[in-house]
Amino acid sequence: MKIQVLFGTETGNAEMVAEDIVDALAAEHDIEAHDMSKVAADSLDREALYLVVCSTYGDGELPNSAQPFYNALGELSPDLNGLRFATFGLGDSFYGTYNNGSQIIAERLLELGAHSVGERGLHDASSGLLPGDVAVEWARQLLEDLPA
Ligand SMILES: Cc1cc2nc3c(=O)[nH]c(=O)nc-3n(C[C@H](O)[C@H](O)[C@H](O)COP(=O)(O)O)c2cc1C
Repeated sequence: MKIQVLFGTETGNAEMVAEDIVDALAAEHDIEAHDMSKVAADSLDREALYLVVCSTYGDGELPNSAQPFYNALGELSPDLNGLRFATFGLGDSFYGTYNNGSQIIAERLLELGAHSVGERGLHDASSGLLPGDVAVEWARQLLEDLPA
């Protein structure tokens, strides 16, 4: 099974997290990471598992690099039935809109028929934990729990 990590970022943390996940899992899995802004919304691969790694910016909004992908999903409305994805959000519990960005993108994928697998992983910048460590643990657990 191919794993596609899609990241949406403003200042690079989600990109680092995506790279950490790829580095940690590449020995056992066919896995690659892409910036959402470079992914065509109507050419998603149904055979792949998508790991959607997305931060939150502004007032609970999507980060810059997630916006074109989110908008294209809305405009093109691809049928995503059968596509599986899991979400990892980066945010800061200092904000009342904690981790809204990952929720926004996940909801759009669900609206288009995709299926969410596993628990949404979250990184809280106020926790003092390294986002890559939290994300790699989340990804390993997710894959372990995934039905074959
Ligand atoms: C100006 C600004 C606004 C932010 N707004 C939110 C927010 O509304 N909700 C949230 O959970 N985190 C918010 N954050 C925290 C970021 O999501 C967090 O720092 C994240 O690690 C950034 O990841 P990125 O570099 O991939 O964009 C904000 C950070 C900044 C600097």
